[in-house]
Amino acid sequence: MARPKIALIGAGQIGGTLAHLAAIKELGDVTLLDLNDGAAKGKALDIAEAGPSEGFDAQMAGTADYADIAGADVCIVTAGVARKPGMSRDDLLGINLKVMKAVGEGIAAHAPNAFVICITNPLDAMVWALREFSGLPHSKVCGMAGVLDSARFRHFLADEFKVSMRDVTAFVLGGHGDTMVPLTRYSTVAGIPLPDLVSMGWTTQEKLDAIVQRTRDGGAEIVGLLKTGSAFYAPATSAIEMAEAYLKDQKRVLPCAAHVDGAYGLDGFYVGVPTVIGAGGVERVVEINMNKEEQAMFDKSVDAVKGLVAACKEIDGSLA
Ligand code: APR
Repeated sequence: MARPKIALIGAGQIGGTLAHLAAIKELGDVTLLDLNDGAAKGKALDIAEAGPSEGFDAQMAGTADYADIAGADVCIVTAGVARKPGMSRDDLLGINLKVMKAVGEGIAAHAPNAFVICITNPLDAMVWALREFSGLPHSKVCGMAGVLDSARFRHFLADEFKVSMRDVTAFVLGGHGDTMVPLTRYSTVAGIPLPDLVSMGWTTQEKLDAIVQRTRDGGAEIVGLLKTGSAFYAPATSAIEMAEAYLKDQKRVLPCAAHVDGAYGLDGFYVGVPTVIGAGGVERVVEINMNKEEQAMFDKSVDAVKGLVAACKEIDGSLA
């Protein structure tokens, strides 16, 4: 049987890391597409040359032509611009919206059966726009944010508790921005919820609050350190986890920016929620109970995303 085909739209920092990870994990053959043809071809060749040492046979190709993504099973989209210090994700909206139009049309024309994972920021609005421009089924278009946000939360918690991050689960809802909602009640160490760990004296409420805030600011912290761009290793790893869940029909329960229609009182809207990802794409949205305070934080986050979607509609009349 032929290997699955993975198209990476954008061959920048995240795109290159995605290609390397997909090759090492032998998820499929990889086509890197970028406006910058040389960058796409150069990264593809560089990674292919790692094959003999690493021991993978996956084919790597670089292109600037959408015809070369024909028949892709998975498309991961990072095309666009990344933020620099002092910028918020929302500052990228105008430029990246135009990119989503070109990408959406390219995917619709050449890879209409793909499972599409958007990473380009501002994430929740861009994944919505990409779905609109591509016309693909909602279940086949989602955004990577929740896996990354909860990975950051898990890392900070594991560090605080001095336990393996494998035993820390974390739950983050809402938009991928300053209003994201890390839910401590649903986050655990080996099944013990965080509020119980505070009672057990493992940490203090103040320290936990600081970790929640650091998680919300996780992207900005990296931008501030790198100064020339934004995070790429952990974002790429998170998207690969989602792609693998689809390609191997793992039915993983992963938070992602999904189209929510009915659950959470939403009526056809992209926002970060827990989902089940398998061969059908986003097969299910998992609706959890929230207390008043959590619901208020979630509503605030949804309102922030609604504002960005409204801004997209103003910029591009075809989306209205
Ligand atoms: N079509 C194809 N490629 C494009 C287009 C386009 N219309 N516009 C830009 N690109 C390419 C650029 O040439 C560049 O190689 O997208 C790539 C983006 O790479 P980086 O600038 O290195 O950005 P990266 O760190 O990979 O982040 C990409 O993901 O996390 C988000 O905020 C981040 O929106 C940003 C995106």
